[in-house]
Amino acid sequence: MKRLISPSMLSADFANLERDLKSVEAGGADWLHVDVMDGHFVPNITIGPDQVANLRKTIALPFDVHLMISEPLKYIERFVKAGADIITVHVEADDDTKACIDLIKSLDCKAGIVLSPDTPIEAAAPYLDDISMILVMGVYPGFGGQKYIPETTQRLKGLRAMIGDRKVHLEVDGGVNFDTLSTVVEAGADVIVSGSCLFGGDMKENIDRFRAIMEGAEA
Ligand code: DX5
Ligand code: ZN
Repeated sequence: MKRLISPSMLSADFANLERDLKSVEAGGADWLHVDVMDGHFVPNITIGPDQVANLRKTIALPFDVHLMISEPLKYIERFVKAGADIITVHVEADDDTKACIDLIKSLDCKAGIVLSPDTPIEAAAPYLDDISMILVMGVYPGFGGQKYIPETTQRLKGLRAMIGDRKVHLEVDGGVNFDTLSTVVEAGADVIVSGSCLFGGDMKENIDRFRAIMEGAEA
């Protein structure tokens, strides 16, 4: 499976969003990671479906939409219509996870699940045959720029083993930088989210550096 880079727009300059997102595209990223927070499921607020629809007009990259919201079922259709290509929902959210997966897929969108740091990896087991991706949080969701939680590495290894030969991506989100990248790749992550590191400095140089580290990692 080709490894993918999905820069998190949470770390972009929202006053210069078009400029910053064009740099993600020009820098050679594979996807754009869109963090949706409602101030309820997590203690921070970002953007909603109308803003995602606006971004869709300027950026052609696949949108990897990470929903950190309560009652995801209520909003899934609007995010699909806004242009999401893959939507991940937290298994900790209040709505039934399988119902969310089924709804996303019924709208011709790819579906994934997210595990927060305190959720046992076994929580992913019931959904493995129904999803395109498992997203493993490397930090507590809500904010960019936090430090990678070291226990995440074992969790990635365990989930990679659980996935087996299924075509399911394993994405990692939070605390991934030049120092932690090889660890997460070697543990089995194939989709890498990074916000503060990739947006800190020249996007293309940073993405090139990520690719070099990913290629050098022994996975
Ligand atoms: C945190 C978000 C992440 C965050 C990652 O809740 O889901 O996508 O932006 O940021 P960094 O890479 O700075 O840890
Ligand atoms: Zn995210």
